[in-house]
Amino acid sequence: MLNLVLLAIAAALVYYSRSTSVVVAATGFALVGYVATDYLIPRVGPSFIKIGLFGKDLSKPGKPVLPECIGAVSATVYLFTMFFCIPCIFYPYLITSTSGGGQRDISVEEAGANSAIFPHSRLSEYLSSVLCLESTILLGIADDLFDIRWRHKFFLPAVAAIPLLAVYYIDFGVTSVLVPGFMQEWLGSKSIAITSIDLGALYYVYMASMAIFCPNSINILAGVNGLEVGQSIVLGVLALLNDSLYLALGTDTTKSSHRFSMVLIIPFIGVSMALFKWNKWPASVFVGDTYCYFAGMVFAVVGIQGHFAKTMLLLFVPQIVNFVYSVPQLFNLVFCPRHRLPKFNEKDGLLYPSRANLKENPPKAFFVPVLRLLGSLHLIDLETDAKTGALVSCSNMTIINLMLVWFGPMREDKLCNLILAFQFVIGVCAIVLRHCIGSILFGHDNLWTIK
Ligand code: UD1
Ligand code: MG
Repeated sequence: MLNLVLLAIAAALVYYSRSTSVVVAATGFALVGYVATDYLIPRVGPSFIKIGLFGKDLSKPGKPVLPECIGAVSATVYLFTMFFCIPCIFYPYLITSTSGGGQRDISVEEAGANSAIFPHSRLSEYLSSVLCLESTILLGIADDLFDIRWRHKFFLPAVAAIPLLAVYYIDFGVTSVLVPGFMQEWLGSKSIAITSIDLGALYYVYMASMAIFCPNSINILAGVNGLEVGQSIVLGVLALLNDSLYLALGTDTTKSSHRFSMVLIIPFIGVSMALFKWNKWPASVFVGDTYCYFAGMVFAVVGIQGHFAKTMLLLFVPQIVNFVYSVPQLFNLVFCPRHRLPKFNEKDGLLYPSRANLKENPPKAFFVPVLRLLGSLHLIDLETDAKTGALVSCSNMTIINLMLVWFGPMREDKLCNLILAFQFVIGVCAIVLRHCIGSILFGHDNLWTIK
């Protein structure tokens, strides 16, 4: 019943979006995406198990088997939604009459000031984004099917991002970054202050790194029911908050990029909310690596195409902290077990920090003092031999385990909510700081630029 009501609202929004805004159309499609994903997940789940796509829920009594890779359903619905979105977005530019003879010269029925010329660059940005997401979803499905090795799959998102970078090169091509006010004179001479530096090809390396980082960082902040999709929804809401600020206060150029960002993110939130419904504690399905890659790439795409990649990275502060904290295990300075998710205790139903056995798998010798330092700073739970002082074990280095070290054992849903709440608060602070410190460092902020 609720789904039918949502569909009716969606139809109304999509219909009225012709005379309002593409954001209204995106909201309508988000509702359609939610209803379609919510309808499909319980129906296709058993088929996934039948073909061997399942995983054990390690934090439940008896480790029940759940369908894996269900994020592929959300991702596919999202792609279809984005296809159907195209006519709504470009409706004002559709050719309704021509001068005849096969000419395409007269294009617009409602020839408003902004709609005289078909925005081919916007369409290519849109299509390259969808193409990049399609390749990423293929990579995610391949990973869920074949469990590709970490060192093989790590760089693949950069290949998926090639269409995106090519369109950036052709349509925008800006590769310079602003220099903070206090460095401008230092880098230039007394008479000429340097206000920006052209990074050239390095800027493309930076954007490709973002395409690698965003998907992988979501995938390693995982292992608790609802966390992969929950953190992606929080990221989406934060990005929408930032976009809304620009729509309300920005210039025409920034408004246009942030409207584009909203068109990609709103339907993403729609399909993710439906997935969250089935993946939240106690989960009935697992999202799989497909969803983690897809979600991360949505944000990389939006940051790159919307030309606010640096701001987007600020929203990823918790994922960046988790990545940096994980580096010793990711680069094998400290033993990294196949799963670092918290340890479930069947007796009390709570999660405890999981541990790496350092007796059987000793860390690199030069890293031992660092481990001891982290232990004394209470940044890991370090167990040492009472007699010899030798290292016995340490808690696995993820912020999920760190929460349990700091706040004690917890039920899975509480842990997930705690991490999501932290993420939201940090993200809001990052947005506020971005716009306050931006104007202090650079002398102005593109949000407050006088129109
Ligand atoms: C990443 C993490 C790994 C973590 C795993 C959990 C790194 C380097 N890798 O590996 O430490 O254990 O994600 O997703 O940090 N699972 C649950 N409950 C959940 C989610 C997952 O029990 O809420 C288990 C299930 O058995 C599921 C499996 O994790 O089948 C999925 O693991 P997978 O996504 O393949 O692990 P990675 O992404 O390789
Ligand atoms: Mg995973």
